[in-house]
Amino acid sequence: MVSEQATRSMSENVLAGNIASDRPRVFSGIQPTGNFHLGNYLGAIRNWVDQQDRYDNIFCIVDLHALSQSTTRRSLRENTVNLANVLLASGLDPLRSIIFLQSDVREHSELCWLLSSVTQYGELRRMTQFKDKAAGKDEQVSAALLFYPVLQAADILLYETNLVPVGEDQKQHIELTRDIASRFNARYGQTFVLPRPDIKPVGARLMSLEDPSKKMSKSDANPNAAIALTDDPVTMTRKIKRAVTDSGTEVIATPDKPAITNLLTIFSLLSGEPIAALETRYAGKGYGAFKSDLAEIVVAALAPIQLRTAELNANPEIARSVLAEGADRARARAVRKMSEVRERMGVGID
Ligand code: AMP
Ligand code: TRP
Repeated sequence: MVSEQATRSMSENVLAGNIASDRPRVFSGIQPTGNFHLGNYLGAIRNWVDQQDRYDNIFCIVDLHALSQSTTRRSLRENTVNLANVLLASGLDPLRSIIFLQSDVREHSELCWLLSSVTQYGELRRMTQFKDKAAGKDEQVSAALLFYPVLQAADILLYETNLVPVGEDQKQHIELTRDIASRFNARYGQTFVLPRPDIKPVGARLMSLEDPSKKMSKSDANPNAAIALTDDPVTMTRKIKRAVTDSGTEVIATPDKPAITNLLTIFSLLSGEPIAALETRYAGKGYGAFKSDLAEIVVAALAPIQLRTAELNANPEIARSVLAEGADRARARAVRKMSEVRERMGVGID
C-alpha cells in the first residue's frame, strides 16, 4: 500500500513538517487591522509572494498583536478573513507557503511569556513604535502595546526562522528578537536560530502622500495619506493627483525632493521601470502628466487584487480552510520547539 506520505508532493510534505526543507526558513506577519495600504503591499506582501519559491515560508495573520490597540470583536473577525483573502488574492499560495492565524497556535502566547523573562522592561520602553504610539498616554495604552515586540519575537523564534521579510519600520523589532534569542541561548544553551531582517533597498518605507516626512501608515487619521486597497479607482486617482509635491517642477528623485521621490518609487516598483528611465521620460513634462500616468498604473496594479479579494470574501469557507490547514502545519512545528524550550528552562517536571 502506498503511504499517505508518499502520495503527497515534495512541497506538501515539507509544509506538513514530514521532511525538512533545505531552503532557508522565512517567517513574517501582518496585523488584521483593516486599511491594508500600498506600503504594506510594496514593502512586504509583494516580496513574500515573489520569493515564495526560494524559501520554506510561513506567513501569519497576527490577530493577537492587533489586540494591542482598541478593536471590536466584529471588526477583528471581519479584518481577519478579509486579510487572509487579500494575501491569497495577492498571490500567496497555500501549496508553497503556510498561511495561518496566530491565535490558532497557542504556543505563540506561551513562548511570549517565557521570553518576557529574558527581556528587559527598559528595552521594551525604548522601542520606537511603542514610544510613538504611547507618547504621553501611559494611562490609556494597553500593557499589550509594551509587550508587542516580545510576542513578535515568539512568532519568529518558534519556527527557527532565518529571514524575516518586512518593511523598514520593523527593523528594530527584529534586532530586539536577535538580542532576546542570544540572551536565551547564553543562559539556557543553544536553542534559537538568530533571524535576519530582509528589508529591500527600495520600497521598504513608502511615505505619506500628504506629508513625505511621515511613513504611509494604517493609523494615519488623514485618509488621503495612504492608498488603501479598498479605495475605488476614482479615489485612488484623486489621492495621487492631490498628493503633496516639492517646490519646482522637475520629476527627479533626490533627497531634497522627498515627495516626488516617493511617487517615483511607487511608479518604478509597480511598472518595473528604473527610476532613471522615468526621470528621462518625464523630463520637462511637469508633475501633472506624471501623476496622471502614475494613477493609471496604481489602479491597474491593484484592480486584479481587489477583484479577487471580493470573490474570495463572497466564499469565506476558502479562507477558513486555508487557515485551518495552515494552523495544523504550523502547530506541528511550534509544539516541537516549545517542548525543547520548556525542557531547557526547567518548566514542568521530569
Ligand atoms: P502592519 O500593517 O503594521 O502589520 O505591517 C505589515 C507590513 O507592512 C510590515 O512588514 C511593515 O513593515 C510593512 N509596512 C507598513 N507600512 C509600510 C510603509 N509605509 N512602507 C513600506 N512597508 C510598510
Ligand atoms: N509587528 C509587525 C508589523 O507591524 C507584524 C508582525 C508580528 C511580524 N509578528 C511578526 C512581522 C513576525 C514579522 C515577523 O508589521
